[in-house]
Amino acid sequence: MRRILTQNLVSGMKLAKTIYSSDGVILLGQGMELRPQYIKRLLDMEIMSVFIDDEISQGIECNDVIDERTRMEAVKTVREIVQCHTMGKTVDVRKAKQHVNNIVDELFYSKDILVNMSDLRAKSDYTFYHMVNVAVLSVMTGISLGYHELNLRDLGVGALLHDLGKVKIDENIYNKTGKLTDEEFEQIKQHASYGFDMVRNMEAVNVLCAHVAYQHHERFDGQGYPRGLRGKGIHDFARIVALADVYDALTADRPYRKAMLPYHAVEYLVAMGGTQFDPDLTSVFVENIAIYPVGTFVELNTKEKAIVVTVNKLHKTRPVVRVLTEADGALLKQPFELDLLNSPTYFINGIIEEF
Ligand SMILES: [Fe+2]
Repeated sequence: MRRILTQNLVSGMKLAKTIYSSDGVILLGQGMELRPQYIKRLLDMEIMSVFIDDEISQGIECNDVIDERTRMEAVKTVREIVQCHTMGKTVDVRKAKQHVNNIVDELFYSKDILVNMSDLRAKSDYTFYHMVNVAVLSVMTGISLGYHELNLRDLGVGALLHDLGKVKIDENIYNKTGKLTDEEFEQIKQHASYGFDMVRNMEAVNVLCAHVAYQHHERFDGQGYPRGLRGKGIHDFARIVALADVYDALTADRPYRKAMLPYHAVEYLVAMGGTQFDPDLTSVFVENIAIYPVGTFVELNTKEKAIVVTVNKLHKTRPVVRVLTEADGALLKQPFELDLLNSPTYFINGIIEEF
């Protein structure tokens, strides 16, 4: 199995993972052979990449830290919450809390797995997936920090609802591709306070979750908004969610730019540790991210091209790879696997976007 850009799909390729819409409906099922009209549909929905099964990726499993079904159910609930708010209806957050509990439970079991975000989101569903991903990434960090389960649940709910205040902002401003005017940026900034009020008034939700919404755009150096809090004056949940928020946004396709590779997003976070982010939490956060996710194509120092087969959490730059070509790019008749951990003369030169 490997991930492929939708624009590079060819009729006859076999889908390796089911694609859902944000309301939980199956758009295309696993195992389906892609036909031109399916590919067109994916392109129309602006689903930027999908997973396929083919010969070079045979036997490779791209599993994420949570089950796709769990993610999907959470996305569906977040969507309902957002819709209720938009229509001025009362929101029942019990379902959301239950999903967070499920996410926490699953993440406990997969704490040795690196985050290999594998959601296939349509552009129009960006916000819903983003909220769930931020919850997953935040809870994962909380587990690494040894947080108690009850704290993980509050962190998860706060992360899930961190951007809820956005529903009160004109979405044309959020989706604007050009530069924002000062006035527009001031409006966007208000989503933090709006979110605080919305979450604070929810029944059976810890007030800490509301503070996550309020503080997730504060910066460690005090240059954030809305209050310009700094350092440990920002609640640790909000300092974690700030990292998760930026990481997920950078690695997703946005109207104004293409997705950044995990490798580059991690570099960005580390570079901003101490200014935008808490440097200690940044180190913990990036430990959980696969910089060369399973199924990624890489070029080795020998110029041979390979695909990542498995990753090693303790040695993230030295995964097991399947070498597919000679140094001159000629396809090998018999690809072979190489554990970079035991092959000190080999290293990864860089990621190749498509093979
Ligand atoms: Fe935000």
